[in-house]
Amino acid sequence: MSALNIIILAAGKGTRMYSNKPKVLHALAGKPMVQHVLDCAQALQAERICVVYGHGGEAVPQAMAAYPAKFVIQEPQLGTGHAVQQAMPHLDDGSQSLVLYGDVPLIQLASLQRMREAGEGLVLLTVNLANPTGYGRIVRDAQGKVLSIVEEKDATTELRKIQEVNTGILLAPTALLRTWLANLKNNNSQGEFYLTDIVAMAVGQGVAVHTVQPDNTWEVDGINSKAQLAVLERTWQSVEAQRLLAQGVTLADPARIDVRGTLTCGRDVEIDVGCIFEGKVSLGDNVRVGAYSILRNVRVAHDTQIAPYSLLEASAVGANCHIGPYARLRPGSQIHDDAHVGNFVEIKNSEIGKGSKANHLSYIGDATVGARVNIGAGTITCNYDGANKFRTIIEDDAFIGSDTQLVAPVRVGKGATIGAGSTITKDTPDSELTLSRSKQITINGWMRPVKKK
Ligand code: UD1
Ligand code: CA
Repeated sequence: MSALNIIILAAGKGTRMYSNKPKVLHALAGKPMVQHVLDCAQALQAERICVVYGHGGEAVPQAMAAYPAKFVIQEPQLGTGHAVQQAMPHLDDGSQSLVLYGDVPLIQLASLQRMREAGEGLVLLTVNLANPTGYGRIVRDAQGKVLSIVEEKDATTELRKIQEVNTGILLAPTALLRTWLANLKNNNSQGEFYLTDIVAMAVGQGVAVHTVQPDNTWEVDGINSKAQLAVLERTWQSVEAQRLLAQGVTLADPARIDVRGTLTCGRDVEIDVGCIFEGKVSLGDNVRVGAYSILRNVRVAHDTQIAPYSLLEASAVGANCHIGPYARLRPGSQIHDDAHVGNFVEIKNSEIGKGSKANHLSYIGDATVGARVNIGAGTITCNYDGANKFRTIIEDDAFIGSDTQLVAPVRVGKGATIGAGSTITKDTPDSELTLSRSKQITINGWMRPVKKK
């Protein structure tokens, strides 16, 4: 199969988004629309990717700078044919060129792969719509051979009855595309250079025109407004939910889960309502995620329970742990097997050893906590002196009394006990009780102050 070049049209203004941001940078499932298309282009292993942008200054090339794509500006915007022309200097004649759209974000690999396999010549992706209003119509002869695409605004009443429409996505031999584009005219009702006019040119030259239909019509839904974006977001989320259900995941309500990235689940995973999964998340067998939890780039091993309202980011949680309710794992947290992280506990860039517990109201930052450690309620690591951060080390089997401040850098020895209410500024020895606390005294006959008359 010949090499593939991909052109992504993304120059449209998006007037109906009522936004200062270019349309294609608005996110669907947590990712800019054009990025979905770029990811798809990469998955197709295109040799060259060319993004045609227009509005919003350099916002599109800047936002997508990580992609090995060529960004070319189309200014002014004289139609879809003119837009593709801008990309032509960057494409190879020996290749096939695939035209995609930055505002048609959910096109899937499988449909495009079928276009690649459809045969020599020009390949159009088309759909049949009950209401084809607004779309270019696919005109065929009596034998069903494609003759041309006629835009709605240029179509007769008779042609407007055709329900097979142009999605805009097409695949053409690059060398032929180049000659066709050079011959486009703008003598139509909109005064634009229509990409769709290449179809009649191909037919005139006896080049075969094939049509392929996408697996799902939502793959070719284009976005022009926030309302359409919201509808497509829900469509995609229900696709994700059905995929999870089909794999055996229990969803309390498939309409109340949001996957903004990739969620991988083991067997017998249960997810309650209102959860959001962002980036790359994997859940091991028997993991339960409580209501309204947010997991972003997190790995959770088997049999762990995440109780409601927990926020976990860029962390790894071992097996058989209890996290939450209301727990916060900030980036760089590693929670080992059998550990408990309870309500209003914040952990950042720290390791919590096997079987250790921080059940209530704590801040553990830049700490290495050993195994079987008990961290009492209200314990905090003072990891920051206003300028620099320091580590706290708590060794195996230590017991930290409630309301302790551990002023880093500091080390609590193996099996050490810290008395409640202590401020620990120096390393504490193994196995001993250490406390720093003023003696309790009672002042007999002390009177509370009273208001002056
Ligand atoms: C186009 C097709 C129509 C098809 C429909 C599907 C043409 C002439 N018509 O019509 O057959 O049914 O899409 O939605 O191709 N764009 C640019 N630069 C331009 C003009 C457009 O980058 O100068 C981009 C837009 O950002 C958009 C896409 O091309 O992503 C389609 O443009 P639009 O003006 O919406 O085309 P339609 O009139 O809807
Ligand atoms: Ca359109």
